[in-house]
Amino acid sequence: QGKVRIRSVGKYIPQRILTNEDLTEWLDTSDEWITSRTGIKQRHISTTENTSDLCTEAALKALDKVKVKAEEVGLIIVATMSPDAHSPSVACTVQSNIQAENAMAFDINAACSGFVYACSVAEKMLSVGPYQYALVIGGEVMSKVVDWKDRSTAVLFGDGAGCVLLEKNNHTHNFIGEDIHADGSRGQSLTSGEVAVNNLLTSGNEVNPYLQMNGRDIFDFVVRSVPKSITEVVEANQLRLEEVDFFLLHQANARLIKAVSKKLKQPIEKFPKNIDKYGNTSAASIPILLEELITNGDIQLGSNQTIVLTGFGGGLTWGSLLIKL
Ligand code: ACO
Repeated sequence: QGKVRIRSVGKYIPQRILTNEDLTEWLDTSDEWITSRTGIKQRHISTTENTSDLCTEAALKALDKVKVKAEEVGLIIVATMSPDAHSPSVACTVQSNIQAENAMAFDINAACSGFVYACSVAEKMLSVGPYQYALVIGGEVMSKVVDWKDRSTAVLFGDGAGCVLLEKNNHTHNFIGEDIHADGSRGQSLTSGEVAVNNLLTSGNEVNPYLQMNGRDIFDFVVRSVPKSITEVVEANQLRLEEVDFFLLHQANARLIKAVSKKLKQPIEKFPKNIDKYGNTSAASIPILLEELITNGDIQLGSNQTIVLTGFGGGLTWGSLLIKL
């Protein structure tokens, strides 16, 4: 089995910014409500680019940084809950856009846990499969799946994409442990893109295609499940929470991140945030945050730092990856 390390990262954020103040033009809301409940100050919203466009740019940046050629990539996995279409997958469109003609490509939908799920799958496929490089991308255009008439959800989400380039090698294995879960019995707490059965035998079935969320249920679920997942993956690998340098949580809500840090009794400084700038970008939030921390030097590849990546969201799904860089 080969060893797998993170070789490079990339991100792409659409240019157009909508501040909380901007939203008050369309919605009965306020900067005060959004900031105090969520920590969000603004979000980037795509005007023309679809999910595959954002993912393509993020992938090209990750490849370009380390001068790996697209044709060397054997595997592309895109985590998304807002694909361009049911088919082709976003990953196949990215494969075509970057001309990675030797890559197999598919999407994973585990909502906001998608990037953690995709990394878990990619690491194992790379380790045992005939691939040298994998692009693992979290990309979302959430602005096309939210109901812009529903202030309780529309203000929360944003668009963007982040990417890691994984490399098989002989000496460094970054992926130390994982703790990943799903509970489909609570799936109705967050739904999006429902499709009704309407065909020649049946018609008139209606569903709400927009994202709907029971915010309180999700909040409670996260506070109960996420600290447990983090503690389990750390302790199962003979480490203590104190030995983890950074906990990169899905950026859903600044209050949630604070609640998790409190429950784990770990300083809030170990839980970096960028939700103020981007809102909740679902599967894209963790790789975007990782890219920013690597770019600003807080996290360094090859430094021996220990980090935990934790996603949670629709499905319900949640999970943590323990990574030694
Ligand atoms: N502006 C002004 N008022 C609002 C807004 C808004 N944008 N949205 C809702 N309100 C009002 C409601 O109508 C309600 O008014 P009422 O009391 O008169 O009925 C009041 O504010 C309180 O609403 P709640 O929904 O109870 O507010 P709450 O304190 O629960 O905060 C929030 C809502 C921020 C969504 C919170 O529940 C939360 O963060 N939950 C976690 C959600 C989450 O993390 N989701 C992401 C995981 S899944 C994923 O990422 C895809």
